[in-house]
Amino acid sequence: MESHTEWWRTGVVYQVYVRSFADSNGDGQGDINGLRSRLGHLEALGVDAIWLNPWYKSPLADGGYDVADYREIEPVYGTLSDAEALIAECHDRGIRVIADLVPNHTSSQHVWFQEAITSPPGAPSRDRYVIRPGRGDGSEPPNNWIAMFGGPAWTRLDDGEWYLHLFDPSQPDLNWDNEEVRAEFDDVIRFWMDRGIDGLRIDVAHGMVKHPELPDVDPLPLPWSLQGTPEPVDHPFWGRAGIHDINRRWRAILDSYDDRMMVAEAWVHPQQLPLYLRADEYHQSFNFDLIETPWDAAEFRSVIAEACEAAAAIGASSTWVLSNHDVVRHPTRYGLPAGTDTRGWLLDGPHDALDADAGHRRARAAALITLSLPGSTYVYQGEELGLPEVWDLPLDVLDDPTWEKSQHTVKGRDGCRVPIPWTADGPSHGFSHEASWLPQPEWFGALSVDAQRDDPDSMLSLYRQAIAARNHLLADDQALAMLDFGPGVLAYERADITVVVNMGARAVPMPPGEVVLSSATEMLGDELPPDTSVWLA
Ligand code: BGC
Repeated sequence: MESHTEWWRTGVVYQVYVRSFADSNGDGQGDINGLRSRLGHLEALGVDAIWLNPWYKSPLADGGYDVADYREIEPVYGTLSDAEALIAECHDRGIRVIADLVPNHTSSQHVWFQEAITSPPGAPSRDRYVIRPGRGDGSEPPNNWIAMFGGPAWTRLDDGEWYLHLFDPSQPDLNWDNEEVRAEFDDVIRFWMDRGIDGLRIDVAHGMVKHPELPDVDPLPLPWSLQGTPEPVDHPFWGRAGIHDINRRWRAILDSYDDRMMVAEAWVHPQQLPLYLRADEYHQSFNFDLIETPWDAAEFRSVIAEACEAAAAIGASSTWVLSNHDVVRHPTRYGLPAGTDTRGWLLDGPHDALDADAGHRRARAAALITLSLPGSTYVYQGEELGLPEVWDLPLDVLDDPTWEKSQHTVKGRDGCRVPIPWTADGPSHGFSHEASWLPQPEWFGALSVDAQRDDPDSMLSLYRQAIAARNHLLADDQALAMLDFGPGVLAYERADITVVVNMGARAVPMPPGEVVLSSATEMLGDELPPDTSVWLA
């Protein structure tokens, strides 16, 4: 495919949750051949790249973030030759492919872990993981760390020692002080680069290195994100300085190929993030700030301005994310009263607090924000259809380990992973010719690709038009200048376009200029209604 360097700096990257995208063989789970059969949708949408959630051999205890073999494709998803065919077909269509690499932990089914737990304490195979004797008489875990999905971060082995898992017990943490671990990942990266993968999304990029003494952490409970802390903290397992050596090692490998990139999923303090983006480390890092920003013009303005300034200061490119496979989908977030704990709301409600229409309008307006900002924009599958969270999945189908590990107090992330509706009716709305692994609600048909494709007022049409207009009007100029159009209004200028978003409760006068694109479905007169964005020339 045509080579143009630093493609990641400005692209639209579409996130494919393979298990929920399209099923080719009728087992109710998405797969690579299903994805191949739907590439036309992505080409028509105009995306530059896709990022695939993990597709490696896995017991799928955490949606594939529990990898049993980094060089094999999970049989539910297909084969290595299907993956190679997918990469080639994407390249033929001008779409680059980013794979997900999970270096912090393996699956407990990985051959290394099986070797470790069947070898005696002190054996070299055990040193690939973080395995320690317990405290006191050995029956207490080595320290007080808590796993991200709930419960202690340590599980006791039959021989009495304990192994560390920052996530599920089926995801033992690797010991990144062990050179064999480092060498293995060098090789895995080369394996995928040799198969034409264009980039890597590095999972939990702030987690690999642990404090050598594994001290207790204070205070509990632990934040998943360190972004909420006022100052960077010396944390025993998040964001430790030793991570940068690993980053440099990987970067050197990628630099030995043409045009490859890596993007970090690093939940670190904003002051630490630039360190990940030094010239010999990551090309890019996710910026999750918009996921945590309420629908408020002043808040959006400060998040956008800060991110653009921070990126410019270090010569990096910004990234924008409204939704992904770990968070409540944004049309639902935007339909809930400000201040709602959205994860808790899934189970606890009150569910009648949801204003789905407002959420949908705001999601349309938000698309014209993220697709007009400098840097790259990540679009999570189904976002282009306006899919909201399916918050009322039957409890007995929930698959996210969070549900069990929280002892049924936190529902988890299944509601944003419900399979894509392709057709208005038929079994699983064209996702599969059988029932889908997570059930789709009846109303999914109205949001299907078929139902939206030819409707000029659909979310899908809006995304297509915005991506096309972005490529045409905005691509060459990465600078952004904030404008002041009064309270409740977010406004900025980029290239020859002025973006104006009314995030307040009342209509505001329409600023001058020709409307290039509008998130409203009705014709606009001399007022810009609430929850509406326009691009003006
Ligand atoms: C992924 C999650 C996953 C976790 C553990 C994350 O940040 O996005 O889906 O559960 O890493 O691998």
